[in-house]
Amino acid sequence: MWLKLLVIFVLFDVILASSESQSKLIVKAADSYIVGKNVHLEVYLSEPVNVTVPVSLFCKGNKCTKIFKCESCNNQTIPANSNESLIFDLEAFDVGIVTLIFNTTAPGVDFKRAYLTISVGHSSLIVIISYVVGWIYFSAWSISFYPQVWTNYKRKSVVGLNFDFLGLNITGFLFYSIFNICLKFYPSYQDAYHNYFKYSKIPVELNDVGFSVHAVILTGITIIQCFIYERGNQRLSYTARILLVLLWSAAGVMLILAATQVISKLFYVYYLSYAKLGITILKYTPQAWYNFKRKSTVGWSIGNVLLDFTGGIFSLLQMFLDSYNYDDWSNIFGNFTKFGLGMISISFDILFILQHYACYPHKKDEESDLIDDSVQTNTKQLNNEGIINKC
Ligand SMILES: *[C@@H]1O[C@H](CO)[C@@H](O)[C@H](O)[C@H]1NC(C)=O
Ligand SMILES: *[C@@H]1O[C@H](CO)[C@@H](O)[C@H](O)[C@H]1NC(C)=O
Ligand SMILES: *[C@@H]1O[C@H](CO)[C@@H](O)[C@H](O)[C@H]1NC(C)=O
Ligand SMILES: *[C@@H]1O[C@H](CO)[C@@H](O)[C@H](O)[C@H]1NC(C)=O
Repeated sequence: MWLKLLVIFVLFDVILASSESQSKLIVKAADSYIVGKNVHLEVYLSEPVNVTVPVSLFCKGNKCTKIFKCESCNNQTIPANSNESLIFDLEAFDVGIVTLIFNTTAPGVDFKRAYLTISVGHSSLIVIISYVVGWIYFSAWSISFYPQVWTNYKRKSVVGLNFDFLGLNITGFLFYSIFNICLKFYPSYQDAYHNYFKYSKIPVELNDVGFSVHAVILTGITIIQCFIYERGNQRLSYTARILLVLLWSAAGVMLILAATQVISKLFYVYYLSYAKLGITILKYTPQAWYNFKRKSTVGWSIGNVLLDFTGGIFSLLQMFLDSYNYDDWSNIFGNFTKFGLGMISISFDILFILQHYACYPHKKDEESDLIDDSVQTNTKQLNNEGIINKC
């Protein structure tokens, strides 16, 4: 039902997206540069206006005076009725991240979006390595959904895969997909974002959209497998049910409040995003506990864990590379979310790796999984007195 409401809501947005006829000041430039080179910016009007347009360039950020040696950096003028582009070239003397802002006193020119954040780095080699590292973790995380689907298919069973984890996971990725799609494709959300976070770039790229939608589909397939294959007596725990009902009800209520403009749309998508963060922190707990109770990781794909771990390590690596290259450590030390979430995921992966290889290594045999609990307990005690007690 919420999905239907969402579709209606999104359709409204498309219809309401009005076309303003005001001429806009537009900036074109790359967003990454190397120290010692020029930062090259091109500025033009979306349509010519009948007055001269004086354009001023300002630099915002505490690195401005080091990088460009100016805060009010340049002035140029677009003649009346002209569609020419202005070129601004600024030499970058140091590394860092700053925002460049253009404005004008000309009436009837909209310069609300005439800014961009640029990064000046030490080395283009690091930029390339960081780019490659980015694709590695993107691929590892995307592929990480497949081993579980394969394991289920091969065993024709989902015994050992925790349903609470699946319920939380699909909710998290659905919420995250809606957040990404709204901010990437809908101008009304983008406007709300720009009004609230002045001079910030929309934090969603196309590959975020691709990743999250793909994750929803693959988690969906895994859930469908739970209906088809042997699942023993597994079900969603009451705790998970209550949590999911709360998360979805809140999402539904906020959707209605946002659609009726009681709360801002931005607030609604940020609810989804924060709910997703909370889920990311919680989602592995039920599976880890379940493995511990069963004294086995059979049915929980270690391939999934290893790929998730690889992705996590490479994403941290990219954060360090970029922080060094642009001498900006705010992603790691300033803003807990990205770094903290990465660390939490990696910690759970390490726990799963220990459970799989160190604690319950003898349970490789698929049959052993189907033996009932009392027999399992006996074999466990016979086979593994030493290690088992430690886990
Ligand atoms: C420019 O155009 C606006 C309307 O588009 C008009 O009101 C104004 O008088 C014009 N100004 C000049 C200097 O032609
Ligand atoms: C640009 O113009 C503004 C006023 O419009 C002035 O304060 C500033 O000093 C000028 N900057 C340069 C680099 O000329
Ligand atoms: C700018 O205007 C000229 C003629 O006025 C036209 O030939 C040219 O295509 C225009 N350029 C752009 C980018 O609109
Ligand atoms: C342009 O930006 C500068 C610096 O942020 C500000 O001092 C100035 O008032 C702005 N001018 C206009 C017309 O908004």
